[in-house]
Amino acid sequence: MELQKKQRVLSAIQPTSIPTLGNYIGALRNWKNMSANYDCAYAVADLHAITVRQDPKALKQQTMQMFAILLAIGLDPEQSAVFVQSHVDTHAQLAWLLNCYTQFGEASRMTQFKEKSQKHADNINVGLFTYPVLMAADILLYQAHYVPIGADQKQHLEIARDIAERFNGLYGSVFTLPEPFIGTVGARVMSLQDPEKKMSKSDVNPKASISILDSPDAIVKKFKSAVTDSEAWVRYAEDKAGINNLMTIFSACTGWSYEQIESDFAGKGYGDFKLAVADAVIEELRPLQFRFDRLMKDPAYLKQCAHLGAEKAKRISQRTLDKCMKKIGFWIIGN
Ligand code: TYM
Repeated sequence: MELQKKQRVLSAIQPTSIPTLGNYIGALRNWKNMSANYDCAYAVADLHAITVRQDPKALKQQTMQMFAILLAIGLDPEQSAVFVQSHVDTHAQLAWLLNCYTQFGEASRMTQFKEKSQKHADNINVGLFTYPVLMAADILLYQAHYVPIGADQKQHLEIARDIAERFNGLYGSVFTLPEPFIGTVGARVMSLQDPEKKMSKSDVNPKASISILDSPDAIVKKFKSAVTDSEAWVRYAEDKAGINNLMTIFSACTGWSYEQIESDFAGKGYGDFKLAVADAVIEELRPLQFRFDRLMKDPAYLKQCAHLGAEKAKRISQRTLDKCMKKIGFWIIGN
């Protein structure tokens, strides 16, 4: 019997702080779910993180913590390639090549570049501009069929496809065209204080987002103070962004449909519902937090897993880089 080759999946997360519940529901949970059926590569995107000024000590600590979080969500370092982007040199190399196949105009249209240049007006560096090209390199190096992401990264995936199509058009089929994998529930978890805005690691209001390492007490407090509306009726509707967001979070953690939630909480106030959401989140995060604490006590194990991940990632990605360089016409002299 011929063994069918599994399709590839790649995704990455920046180690800019502890992931939020948005990162977890929108992306990380899907990473874990996909790892059983696909050949997966998952990275801590530390090269992307330096497009915004980082404190060196904090960056190092956060990179290690993020790596531990990836293992704590249940990724198996033997089964998937779990690695740190800067440990695998092919990423920066392919990014340079792809820079030369990306148009200034298309990179200028990226909304995240526009937003971040406004937010960091004192440091609009060229890396911020070519950020999506590095992201395209991350994806294309692994010939990924699917990229599990939240809705905010969709535009970056589209430019990765455009770059791949352009390259393939010039040199034949070198890159697999990646598809986004965006979950049906929780692709855009919103801020608890301003439900018109996405929940973000960089929000200055600590009550706006839940960190996946928050204590049960902190989680309860934040949900209690979540902004809702004055109707006091738990139902999913267009003008109820705050409640819609809480229903999304509850549904993602429990598997309940919106109809089930509406009928179960009929006649109950928002106070009860907020506590139920907090409980569901606490239960969802408990095993992850337990594993994270254990992993952080074993830096030697983390390092060993990071080595293993980098080796696997290098092996897969070098093949694509070599092919790409050959097609472009570089003089390759071998070892
Ligand atoms: P990052 O680090 O900002 O976020 C990691 C993942 O979390 C998703 N996400 C959300 N999903 C739902 N609701 C939210 N409020 C929310 N906030 C964030 C993001 O969509 C993302 O999937 N550029 C990427 C990192 C990256 C990458 C890649 C991703 C680098 N290379 C290659 C995919 C493939 C980023 O900054 O994600």
